[in-house]
Amino acid sequence: MSASDKSGVLHVYDGIEEMDNHLPRWWLFILWATLIFGFGYWYYYHVTGMGPGSLEVYKAEAAEAARLAASNKPVSDDTLLALMQDSQSVELGKAQFQQQCASCHGQKGEGLIGPNLTDNFWLHGGKPMAIHKTVSEGVVAKGMPAWERTLGAERVRSIVAYVLTLKNTNVAGKAPQGEPEQ
Ligand code: HEC
Repeated sequence: MSASDKSGVLHVYDGIEEMDNHLPRWWLFILWATLIFGFGYWYYYHVTGMGPGSLEVYKAEAAEAARLAASNKPVSDDTLLALMQDSQSVELGKAQFQQQCASCHGQKGEGLIGPNLTDNFWLHGGKPMAIHKTVSEGVVAKGMPAWERTLGAERVRSIVAYVLTLKNTNVAGKAPQGEPEQ
């Protein structure tokens, strides 16, 4: 039996017919959809770099995890220093600082009514936990409000993380007050 004997049959071997069927439309549709998706994916993530790479996604998740871990632990010098390395917390603290603190301490912490926070001199101590205590409890008699009850523990922590980044940036402003930190 030759191929032309039966329409659509290409070869016959040992009675097994190889057909020359068109691929079904649904199958072709999936093929093209996959190709187009693949091309788009490659273009978005690898050519233009618009999509976040797995490393960026990982870093964002790690930062989020560090923040969560810090918010569950009791505050300590270590957790505050760790928070200081977390740019999202520091940004949050900076925004709060500008709203709540800049009126007395200046936009850059250079001091106005309140002391300069960018020098190495401290009235109430410049160690992370000392700053945390001053900010949470205030020095009410001297005009520094207590912030923990108005802002909550988490915001106070991110503000302290931000204040730690100001330390020793030495912005010209109010003259140093207090003792130099060792
Ligand atoms: C109403 C004005 C005012 C506001 C608002 C204010 N502070 Fe103060 N702050 C002061 C004064 C005044 C002092 C100095 C207290 C003293 O003489 O003992 C001070 C002291 C401090 C100190 C201790 C500095 C040192 O030398 O030990 C820190 C830290 C501080 N403020 C952080 C903050 C932060 C953070 C905020 C915002 C959440 C803030 N302050 C908002 C007035 C203010």
